[in-house]
Amino acid sequence: MSAPRVLMEFLRLAADYLSRCGSPSARLDAELLLGHVLGMDRVSLYVNHDRPLEPAEVDAYRRVLRERCRGAPIAYITGKKEFMRVTLKVTPAVLIPRPETELLVEATIQRLRAASGPLLVTDVGTGSGAIAIGLALALPEARVLATDISPAALAVARENVTAHGLDGRVELLEGDLLAPVADAVRTGRIGPLDAVVSNPPYIPARDWESLPRSVRDYEPRLALDGGPDGLDVYRRLIPQAAPLLRPGGLLALEIGHDQEAGLRELLAQDGRWDNVQVQKDYAGHPRVVLATRKA
Ligand SMILES: C[S@@+](CC[C@H](N)C(=O)[O-])C[C@H]1O[C@@H](n2cnc3c(N)ncnc32)[C@H](O)[C@@H]1O
Repeated sequence: MSAPRVLMEFLRLAADYLSRCGSPSARLDAELLLGHVLGMDRVSLYVNHDRPLEPAEVDAYRRVLRERCRGAPIAYITGKKEFMRVTLKVTPAVLIPRPETELLVEATIQRLRAASGPLLVTDVGTGSGAIAIGLALALPEARVLATDISPAALAVARENVTAHGLDGRVELLEGDLLAPVADAVRTGRIGPLDAVVSNPPYIPARDWESLPRSVRDYEPRLALDGGPDGLDVYRRLIPQAAPLLRPGGLLALEIGHDQEAGLRELLAQDGRWDNVQVQKDYAGHPRVVLATRKA
């Protein structure tokens, strides 16, 4: 076959190369990476299908294709990810926001939209700031306190919060789970909280080795590892959240596909929760747990 000359020919070869590397979404990946190199969206690639590539563009495309072939997630190569219809910066310091987490944000928005007046919400383990930003954009009355134990993650979240004009409404706080907000609520300086929302690390340590390479070798372990059975963070977060929420306040948690029974048990043991509901994800797995603080 003759050497590729125009954009569409490079795209076809790149998709073949990525599918030989085992990528399940080779064509899409090839398009996203070429769009990244050329600064074009996917529609523009098709409009410019017969545009020749400069040698420097070919070199840059080869470089990112090799990275992808080694297993690097597309979002870390392009440095961005769509979440709740906005673009977020991502780096290897943060988990790449997942579509399942949009279900957590949507369920929370649905519950809080009915409330009138200002809202005080926390996003525990904010990472890129995805949940905090999604909530703040959809709920103009909400102030969001977003915590993370990782300063590197918070630096990325800071850029995203600023990029979306939310500096006044999303506060980023470094520390363990709800510790950075607990004193302020206890002493009455703020709160009580209307909602505690979290997508915490929940992968059982025993499942680590069976994670896809693109997750295990690239995403931060601190964002994923939930201890021996994956429930370590919930065990600490549920009792911390109860005294900080107002009566009727919302606890909204993302969970692993096989953790519904474990979460129901933890909430029942704690004894301060009502109206426990579990929502399923696109694959039909239990994914979002909602509960309200007993009066
Ligand atoms: C699964 S990631 C979720 C990131 C983001 N909220 C999202 O949904 O895309 C979990 C996050 O919790 C943070 N984290 C882990 N342990 C923590 C702790 N003890 N206190 C606060 N944050 C923690 C990690 O740094 C990571 O950013």
